Amino acid sequence: MVELVKFTVETGVALITVDNPPVNALSAGVPEGIAAAIERAAHDASVSAVVLIGAGRTFVAGADIKQLEEQAHGRGPGAPNIHQLLKSIEDCPKPVVVAIHGTALGGGLELAMAGHYRVASPDAQAGQPEVNLGIIPGAEGTQRLPRLVGVGAAVEMFVSGKSIRAPEAVRLGLFDKIIEGDLKAGAIAFARHVADSGGPHRRTRDRNEKLGSPESNAAILAAGREQARKTRRNMIAPLRVIDAVEAAVTLPFEEGCRREREIVEQCLAGEEARALIHAFFAERAVSKVRGISQETRTHSIRKAGVIGAGTMGGGIAMVLANAGIPVLLKETDRAALDRGMASVRKNYESSVKKGRLTAQEMEERLALIQPQLTYDGFRDADIIIEAVFENMSLKKQVFGEIDRIAKGDCVLATNTSTLDIDEIAGATSRPNMVIGIHFFSPAHVMRLVEVVRGARTDKEVIATAMALTKRLRKLGVLVGNCRGFVGNRMMLPYMREAQCLVEEGATPSQVDQALYDFGMAMGIFAVDDMGGLDLAWRVLQDTKRLTKPGERLYAMGRLGQKTGAGWYRYEDGRTPIRDPEVEALIETTAKQAGIARRSISSEEIIERCLYIMINEGARILDEGFAQRAADIDTIYITGYGFPAYRGGPMWYADTIGLQKIYERILEFQRRHGEYWTAVPLLEQLAHDGQTFAAFDAANEQAVARSRE
Ligand SMILES: NC(=O)c1ccc[n+]([C@@H]2O[C@H](COP(=O)([O-])OP(=O)(O)OC[C@H]3O[C@@H](n4cnc5c(N)ncnc54)[C@H](O)[C@@H]3O)[C@@H](O)[C@H]2O)c1
Repeated sequence: MVELVKFTVETGVALITVDNPPVNALSAGVPEGIAAAIERAAHDASVSAVVLIGAGRTFVAGADIKQLEEQAHGRGPGAPNIHQLLKSIEDCPKPVVVAIHGTALGGGLELAMAGHYRVASPDAQAGQPEVNLGIIPGAEGTQRLPRLVGVGAAVEMFVSGKSIRAPEAVRLGLFDKIIEGDLKAGAIAFARHVADSGGPHRRTRDRNEKLGSPESNAAILAAGREQARKTRRNMIAPLRVIDAVEAAVTLPFEEGCRREREIVEQCLAGEEARALIHAFFAERAVSKVRGISQETRTHSIRKAGVIGAGTMGGGIAMVLANAGIPVLLKETDRAALDRGMASVRKNYESSVKKGRLTAQEMEERLALIQPQLTYDGFRDADIIIEAVFENMSLKKQVFGEIDRIAKGDCVLATNTSTLDIDEIAGATSRPNMVIGIHFFSPAHVMRLVEVVRGARTDKEVIATAMALTKRLRKLGVLVGNCRGFVGNRMMLPYMREAQCLVEEGATPSQVDQALYDFGMAMGIFAVDDMGGLDLAWRVLQDTKRLTKPGERLYAMGRLGQKTGAGWYRYEDGRTPIRDPEVEALIETTAKQAGIARRSISSEEIIERCLYIMINEGARILDEGFAQRAADIDTIYITGYGFPAYRGGPMWYADTIGLQKIYERILEFQRRHGEYWTAVPLLEQLAHDGQTFAAFDAANEQAVARSRE
C-alpha cells in the first residue's frame, strides 16, 4: 500500500508529511494517517514538537470534490469526517506547526488552522472557496478563521471565496511567519524554538480575543449579508456561511461547530450545491475529446500569425503574447493597423493601472506583437488565426492567400462566429488543417473559446487547438460546424422568443428584469443592444426569424449601444434606459399584425425564453454538434452569463424535469405554432423519465465500452 502520510523524526521534531499526489487532497487514508502520526508524536519521548507539511507542489489543496458530489446526491458517505483529527491536533501536548507551501484551500486550510502555529513559503496562498461549490466550510473553518483573522476579514474571505497571499495572511494573523528559503528546515527550526520557549501553545478554539463585541459584529454581519446579496446574487451559501460566523461569535466553540455541520448538510441537500458541483466537473470534462487521447500528436506552436487587427484580432494577439507566443499581426491599411495597436496598448495600460501587470511586462508583451501590412514572416508561423470582417468571400480570399504562404503543418484557424468552416476550408488545398477557434469578445478577457471542428479537420489539429486554448489559459470547448455553433445558435431562438413576448404585451425592460432576476448576468435585449442589432438582424433575416419590432428598429438605425439607441436608449453609452418610443413602436407593430396584447407574467417569460433555448440545446445534442449536455452548460455559464448556481441550461432543464418542459413545449406549440416543436431527443428523454445528465453518462459509458 502507498504510504499517504510519512512520519520521521529530525532533531527532536516529528515531521509528518502528507504525500497524496497531485494536490494532497484529504481523501480516505490521509486523515487517519495524520491522526496516527500525531498520536505517535505525542507518545514519543524524543519528540518535543511536530511539523505537518505537504510533499510535492502544495500543502493540502482541499477536499475530494468527487466525494462531495456523491454526498450531494446521497450516493456515498461523503468527505471523511476530520473533526476528531482536528481535535487531536489541537489537543496534542506538543506544539504542532503547520508548514504551508502552494495553496491551503478549503479542508486544507481548516486542517492548518487546527495547528498551534502556521508558517509558510512567501508565495503560499490560503482560502476557503467552498461557496463556489454552493456549500460552506465543513471542518470547523467557520469557527476557527474568525478567531484567527477577526470577524470582518473572515466574512470577506468566506463570501468572496478568494485566496489571500502569505504576506496578507501574516498581517491578518492567519500565518505566524513567512519562511524564506527551505520551508521544511525553517519550519523545524521554528518548531524547536516554540518548544524551547515553553509556550503556552494556544489552541485556536480558545483564542476568543478577535471575536469582537456584539455591537461591532452586528454591523459586520449585516454588511456581509448585504455584500453577499449584491456580489453573489440569488445564492444561498454565501448567506449561510455568515450564519455560521454568527454562530462562532455567539456560541461556544463546540456548539458553533455543530451549527456549522447542520448548515453544511442543508447546503449539500440543496439544488445550488448540486448545480455548482455539476458546473465544476462539467468544466473539467470539456478537455476530454472523443477520439483524442494523450497519445494524439499535436503540432507545436512557437509562432503565430493573426489576420485583422480589429476588435477580435487585437484581443487574440494579446492572448497569444500573454502566453509568450510571438505574433505577426496583419492588417490591410495603416490606419486600421495603428488603431488596432493603440487599442492593444490601451488594454495593457489599463491592466498596469489595475496592478495586474508591471510596466515592464507590458512592454515585453507589446514587443511580442509585430504589426505589419504584409504576409512577411507568415511562412514560419505554426498557426494563423484569421479575424477579418464576417464575410464569406473575403474569408475565402484570405484563406486562399494563406494557403499559398503557410508551411505544410501550419494550423489555419478562423475566428468566424457564424460562417461555414467547411466552405472556408474549401478555399484551401488542405481542408484537414483548417479549424474554427471562436474567441468571445473581449478576447483578452473572456475565458470561453469554441473550438469548431470541420468535416475534414485532422484530429491532430483538433488536439492542437484544444491544447493551445489551455496554454492561453482559456477554456476550449469542442463543438461542431453548424450555424452559430453552440452558443450563438441557442441564443437566436431565445432572442426571437423575447421579441415575440414584447409583441404579445411585455416590455423589453420587463423581459430583461425577469431574466436578470432569474440570474442571467444581463437581459437579452440589453445583450442585443451590446452586440449590435445589425448582427442579430442579419442572422434572424437569413433564418426567416425576424420579428416586426426588430426589423423596424434596424430600419430606423437603432443598432444598440453603438448608435446610442436600440431596444433601450443610452446616455452614457452603456446604461440601458427604458424608451417609451420603443414601447409605442412595439404596440403599433403588434396592432398592425393583429396580435392581441395581454399582461405577461415573469414565469411565462422565463419558461418561454429558456425552454426554447433548451429545446435548441437538445437539437444540437441530437445532431451531434456538442459532445455532451454538460459542454453546453459550460458554454452558457462561461460565455453567456448563465448563473452557475443553476448549473447551465441543460442541467436547469433536468432540475425542472424534462417531462414538464416537454408538456409546456406542447402547450406553446398549440398557442404559437410549429416553431415550438419539441426535438425528438427531448421528447424521448421526457418519455423515458430521463435527464440530460443521464444521457451524458450513458454516452460516456458507451464510449468507454467501445474503447475496451
Ligand atoms: N466582435 C465580436 O464580438 C466577435 C466575437 C467573436 C467572433 N467574431 C468574429 O471575428 C471576426 C472579426 O470580427 P471583429 O469584430 O474583430 O471585426 P472588426 O471589424 O473589428 O475587425 C476586422 C478587421 O479586419 C481587417 N481586415 C479586413 N480584411 C483584411 C485582410 N484581407 N487582411 C487583414 N485585415 C483585414 C479590417 O481592416 C478590420 O480592422 C469576424 O469573423 C467576427 O464574426 C466577432
